[in-house]
Amino acid sequence: MTVANVEGKHILITGGASGIGAASAKVLASRGAIVGIADLNGEQAQSLSEEINSQGGNSYAVSVDVTEPEQIAAMFESAKAHNEKLDVIINNAGIDHFPAPLTEVDDAMFMKNIQVNLAGVWYCMKHALRQMTAQGGGHIINIASVAGLRSSPMISAYSASKHGVVGLTKSAAVEYARANVRVNAVCPSFVDTPMVQGVLSKLDERGQKNIIGANPMKRLGKPEEIANAIAWLCSEESSFMTGQSVVLDGGMLA
Ligand SMILES: NC(=O)c1ccc[n+]([C@@H]2O[C@H](COP(=O)([O-])OP(=O)(O)OC[C@H]3O[C@@H](n4cnc5c(N)ncnc54)[C@H](O)[C@@H]3O)[C@@H](O)[C@H]2O)c1
Repeated sequence: MTVANVEGKHILITGGASGIGAASAKVLASRGAIVGIADLNGEQAQSLSEEINSQGGNSYAVSVDVTEPEQIAAMFESAKAHNEKLDVIINNAGIDHFPAPLTEVDDAMFMKNIQVNLAGVWYCMKHALRQMTAQGGGHIINIASVAGLRSSPMISAYSASKHGVVGLTKSAAVEYARANVRVNAVCPSFVDTPMVQGVLSKLDERGQKNIIGANPMKRLGKPEEIANAIAWLCSEESSFMTGQSVVLDGGMLA
């Protein structure tokens, strides 16, 4: 089987220590990319990097909180020290909130979702766009969600943050197309990661069934299924695509 070629590309992944980010780090490293694993959980990022490197991969770990602009600046410096050129950044770090009607989501939780999921992407995009325009091109891949494309009852704060990410993706794609920087979003439905397992563990059987069976395939996505699409996006095979949202949802939006 031929796979999308990412050999030698330097790819930085925020939230890379867990779930979709970790699966992407493994897939990309196994195909010869130099992978930066940046995460709030620096220890987990480090141990994933060691695991990847022990299997012949080329990766490094960075500890970062994407809500802190100075830490983001340091993350980019650290990435530069590993490899001057940054080909791709995957803005994947994210949080969710427990399902509840809008009036019952507290203000702090709303702000936290906006801070991590939207402002975190904004800060990283600013740095990446400056570096990528200066180096002659690059690709920003923002992990949004189907909740960024349609109504998402009971997760209004999360949904608002992800709609924002889709908006940033489209606007920046148009602004920077001539600078040879592409910007795309990935929009999964429910995927089997610690984030979703955390929600499932707090729901009764009916609630769990609603989530697992929310798409026509009646199952959760696998992190690797998202990672494989991300790998294709990272490759030159997607070279004419910018400003798009790649939907991986088991048919949910069909
Ligand atoms: N799992 C799903 O069903 C699903 C569906 C659609 C979109 N997404 C999106 O995919 C992305 C990854 O989600 P996942 O399911 O793999 O979650 P996950 O919880 O397994 O991983 C998220 C990672 O982000 C890190 N993180 C959280 N806050 C951070 C911060 N402030 N700074 C740096 N890192 C931080 C966490 O430490 C963790 O390692 C998120 O943006 C999420 O919204 C997930």
